[in-house]
Amino acid sequence: GRGNYRHFMEKELHEHPAVLGDTLRQYLDPKTLEVRLPRLPFDPAKITRLTISACGSAFLAGMVGRYWIEQLARLPVDADVASEFRYRNPPLAEGGAAILISQSGETADNMAALRLLKDAGQHVLSVVNVPESSMARESHGALLTVAGPEIGVASTKAFTAQLAVLACLAIGFGRARRELSTLDEGRLAQTLLEVPSHAAAILEQDAQIRALAVEVAKARDVLFLGRGALYPIALEGALKLKEISYIHAEGYAAGEMKHGPIALIDSEVPVIALCPSGPLFEKTASNLQEAAARGGRVMAFTDAEGAAALSRFAERVIILPKVGEFSTPILYAIPVQLLAYHVAVLKGTDVDQPRNLAKSVTVE
Ligand code: F6R
Repeated sequence: GRGNYRHFMEKELHEHPAVLGDTLRQYLDPKTLEVRLPRLPFDPAKITRLTISACGSAFLAGMVGRYWIEQLARLPVDADVASEFRYRNPPLAEGGAAILISQSGETADNMAALRLLKDAGQHVLSVVNVPESSMARESHGALLTVAGPEIGVASTKAFTAQLAVLACLAIGFGRARRELSTLDEGRLAQTLLEVPSHAAAILEQDAQIRALAVEVAKARDVLFLGRGALYPIALEGALKLKEISYIHAEGYAAGEMKHGPIALIDSEVPVIALCPSGPLFEKTASNLQEAAARGGRVMAFTDAEGAAALSRFAERVIILPKVGEFSTPILYAIPVQLLAYHVAVLKGTDVDQPRNLAKSVTVE
């Protein structure tokens, strides 16, 4: 049951710290700070390319995985939605490697992608939440997210658990390919091990996020912006808001603003930015300043350091804990999901069963 929570989604949002801890403990040794992966269906040191296929939020997790794996393991990654991948007829070298990501492990388009990949001689690893699912069974290997059952149609804890697994894979690949030292591994592992407690701290900012939701609930259109591995999280924020509140939202790479979407900016459109301090901060901040200069209502998720600069022009700033750059996609996913939840509650929509959607999409 959903206990004292109003919706399964709310309960599942509050399970983030436990689920992230459980999933990380599965693949990361907290004592030695080493990634421990089970036997994989391919050798990450020997492959030259990786294909990632998934749908919806799971695909957005895959996009983050692409940033991480390319960065840490210097391995080229192709990430696509399964419905495109399966009809794209992409050139695949015999003996190549692929990762499929799915909560249910039953999504029709991704099952088709799995069969196509196997027919093309690829070694397929799936990242799934349901151990007895078709995808887990038919793949050459499976890594489980330890998220427990997810009842709310909108994915929450399963998404961050997918990110946790992909983070461990990226570190493991980096080690196997000799792109990361044990020191780097230890530093990244340490950052990941701090994620559950940061996740709990973020959930305690519920009242602030609800106050932001009051503003967002009045909007007809909302833009989410991010850069680097936070760009897919901007897409996740927009997807979740559309899905459960029925407000039109779009996610954009912050640097793409001036190539079109800035034309939408006026005093009605909230521009929600994921903008922690760090290497890309100045770039995103300058995009936001441009939006503010055109009357845009900038609302930023950042840390104390970032807040100092953004408060000069942002209408609202939500200060999240300062976390290691590597873990920002996992942690910044939580407030955008929570924001969508509160907006939906304010709008009075059916949060756990949004119209026209099914938890498991077993038809094309
Ligand atoms: C978004 C959402 C969907 C799923 C997608 C894939 O909140 O829940 O976009 O992520 O339908 O489902 P799985 O992960 O079961 O393959």
